[in-house]
Amino acid sequence: MVPRYLSPSLLIAGALVLSGCARAAGTATADAGKVVVACGATEEWCAAMTSAFTATTGIKSEFVRLSSGEALARIQAGKSDPEFDVWHGGPADGYAAAAGHGLLESYLSPNAAAIPGRYKAGDGAWTGVYVGVLGFCANTEVLAEKRLRAPESWQSLLDPALKQDVGIAHPATSGTAYTALWTQVTLHGGNVDQALAYMKRLHPNVLQYSKSGAAPAQQVARGEVGVGVVFSHDCVATKEQGFPDLRVTFPSEGTGYEVGGVALIKGAHDPVSAKKYIDWALTPAAQEIGPSVRSYQAPTNPKARRSDKSADLAALKLIDYDSTAAGERKLELTRRFDAEIAKAPKS
Ligand code: G6P
Repeated sequence: MVPRYLSPSLLIAGALVLSGCARAAGTATADAGKVVVACGATEEWCAAMTSAFTATTGIKSEFVRLSSGEALARIQAGKSDPEFDVWHGGPADGYAAAAGHGLLESYLSPNAAAIPGRYKAGDGAWTGVYVGVLGFCANTEVLAEKRLRAPESWQSLLDPALKQDVGIAHPATSGTAYTALWTQVTLHGGNVDQALAYMKRLHPNVLQYSKSGAAPAQQVARGEVGVGVVFSHDCVATKEQGFPDLRVTFPSEGTGYEVGGVALIKGAHDPVSAKKYIDWALTPAAQEIGPSVRSYQAPTNPKARRSDKSADLAALKLIDYDSTAAGERKLELTRRFDAEIAKAPKS
């Protein structure tokens, strides 16, 4: 089946361009004409993005889906011979951390001019492609059996009645969970000890720390836990997969959000194609693909159409989330979480 976002004519055009490229390759250029993407959003989103990029530009592309901490570790491990050309998707905290470790090449795409300043690094280290808001994903049927209601505050998530009934990922592997941790830092006025103390108090309620951030929404859908801490759009997407009892709520104290990034990897094998990929990822057309694969993050490009299923950022109580500060302390905080609260999952 042809995905909805690719018209047959676009596919044919893409195939023709590709065969043209293959021929051009015979005439030998230094540019391999292939972009390898470390992709941090859902598998479906990554597949849709890379295939639409190839169909639009004729440049080959492939991706590996990696949670934020995994992507950071793989990019770090491949520093002398990078595996990836581009990192696309996943919270900007990870990108800020990567930039701090000298793993990214600044690139000020001409298309980044359209992206509001709060959604990009001023030096071009990374640029935002979407915004996702952290929330609670409740299984109302499971909670009703226990005479519990969907939590409406970070405080109510600590209710002992929710013992082993909360799903959240591990912040060392997952950008979603790190967003939750940095949200606590921010809510506690920058006090990391108090933020970790909150996570420690939450710990008895956590059934399991998953590797990827969206996994708790699946756990909630299956009724393994009553509530998950996830980006709200992952709950909306899971509900659409046939789980009408799922309900999104947002904490009354305020909630954090992610700016999903895109960045050029330092030493990329194909920087020319990688830059074209980044230029394309910032266009309205690329940012409108998400909803066709149930990815309802809000676009960062003001010209891109926003799905009515996306969280309404203006209507929510958002905290002042500083991705750069979060990135600078990512390693330190995730190590402390690992040592003081729970070990990161291996697989
Ligand atoms: C899901 C969400 C994305 C988010 C990503 C983070 O795919 O839809 O908006 O950026 O999770 O993944 P992670 O596994 O690192 O938490």
